[in-house]
Amino acid sequence: MAPPPDTSKTTKLERYNSYIRRVNSTKLLAASTNLLFRATLLTAVVLILLFTLHYPPLLAGHHPSAASAHSHRSLLSSYSSYGGATWEREVRRSATPRRRGGLSVLVTGAAGFVGTHCSLALKKRGDGVLGLDNFNSYYDPSLKRSRQKLLSHHGILVIDADINDSKLLIKLFDVVPFSHVLHLAAQAGVRYAMRNPQSYVASNVAGLVSLFEVAAKHADPQPAIVWASSSSVYGLNTAVPFSELHRTDRPASLYAATKKAGEAIAHTYNHIYGLSITGLRFFTVYGPWGRPDMAYFFFTKAILSGNAITLFKTRDGVDVQRDFTYIDDVVQGCLGALDTAGKSTGTGGKKRGPAQLRVYNLGNTSPVPVGKMVAILEELLAKKAKKNVVTMPRNGDVPYTHANVTLAQKDFKYRPTTDLATGLRRFVKWYVEYYGVAAPHAQGKGKRGKGSVGEKGKDANTGRVASA
Ligand SMILES: NC(=O)c1ccc[n+]([C@@H]2O[C@H](COP(=O)([O-])OP(=O)(O)OC[C@H]3O[C@@H](n4cnc5c(N)ncnc54)[C@H](O)[C@@H]3O)[C@@H](O)[C@H]2O)c1
Repeated sequence: MAPPPDTSKTTKLERYNSYIRRVNSTKLLAASTNLLFRATLLTAVVLILLFTLHYPPLLAGHHPSAASAHSHRSLLSSYSSYGGATWEREVRRSATPRRRGGLSVLVTGAAGFVGTHCSLALKKRGDGVLGLDNFNSYYDPSLKRSRQKLLSHHGILVIDADINDSKLLIKLFDVVPFSHVLHLAAQAGVRYAMRNPQSYVASNVAGLVSLFEVAAKHADPQPAIVWASSSSVYGLNTAVPFSELHRTDRPASLYAATKKAGEAIAHTYNHIYGLSITGLRFFTVYGPWGRPDMAYFFFTKAILSGNAITLFKTRDGVDVQRDFTYIDDVVQGCLGALDTAGKSTGTGGKKRGPAQLRVYNLGNTSPVPVGKMVAILEELLAKKAKKNVVTMPRNGDVPYTHANVTLAQKDFKYRPTTDLATGLRRFVKWYVEYYGVAAPHAQGKGKRGKGSVGEKGKDANTGRVASA
């Protein structure tokens, strides 16, 4: 009798096959789930990117806390948008001087308040200007975009990039042999440093080093650098008026500390690499196209909309005072510093001889109590401010600033000429036009708009109220 067929092998084989099928289908399921997850993630990233690029103000809000996020976005867009023959042509066109012996200046922070005015002044006299700005949202980026349009109207290209993007900086110096850099890009503001300290380190320390590195090691020829320090470096100094010879080793805010660090870093790059470097200590600069985070600006907005303003008194009950400096005077100082800057002496990261290292105060030399500034605004706006007077908190602000400018006067004929009443009148005129505010009767020269502060309908090219 034939033995019964041995089915155990077939059964084992079937079990094994079914096990393999199960494993395979589990793997397939896992792989497809993985694929689906990746596809969803990719779509989400693409959508976020698109949204970010098209609606930056919506995402960032107008709030300083979005500053660092925006800075990343700028870095991304700069990577994807630079290079190519057209881009290089545009960069060269903007940076080439139109007068014999003219400068070719890379202006960082060009879409900022001081950067815009300096870029326009340089272009007007025939110098070549290329702007760079990361358009961060420390304050309303739409104001920076309006300034960019104004600059573009005058043939100045402002590249959307971060000073920490050294690849881009190297590329720019490859394309243009800049004779000068006017370095104004920075995280400004004293009080915000308590809320976002890292943004100060990123722009004012790391960013400065990034720029100096490229200028010292890659730029050929090395440019001369003029950069913005700040009166805040005088910190707790009580000797007045503040002179460049006074102590600056007691900063009262992180902002001031990063500017002071910048001055020390400038010394190092001058010493090791022969970079010609000039630091300018600005004193409370104000004027048209100004900064919304500064008191004269947000007081104007508050007074017009009937909101209360807070005024600080010192612990001794004295009014806080500032050496308010009108923007045109500061521009004159910046151009003077550029014109008298000596050449850098190094090449390819090697120093070939001693180079110039300078620091100057650029102030107005006549401090004004903040209460007086408010009284001038009240008159210009024909409206009383609702005042809330409090003792100055320990937030980094100093009670008093007063510049001694004899050094700048001696070396490049710096002579501030605009008093606060005149400068504020020009500011208010710009403000009511730009924001389309119903013109106040007292200052009388602004166009009559219908809306409230921040109303749409302005022509961003000129900052004027659109007639339509
Ligand atoms: N306005 C003043 O009263 C005053 C006083 C003292 C010093 N300063 C200094 O003067 C310079 C110009 O000041 P402002 O009033 O025009 O300020 P601003 O904020 O209007 O201009 C600075 C510009 O730099 C840009 N920026 C910031 N970080 C950047 C980065 N990492 N990469 C590229 N761009 C960046 C900003 O987007 C901004 O447009 C700053 O260095 C500031 O610290 C100004």
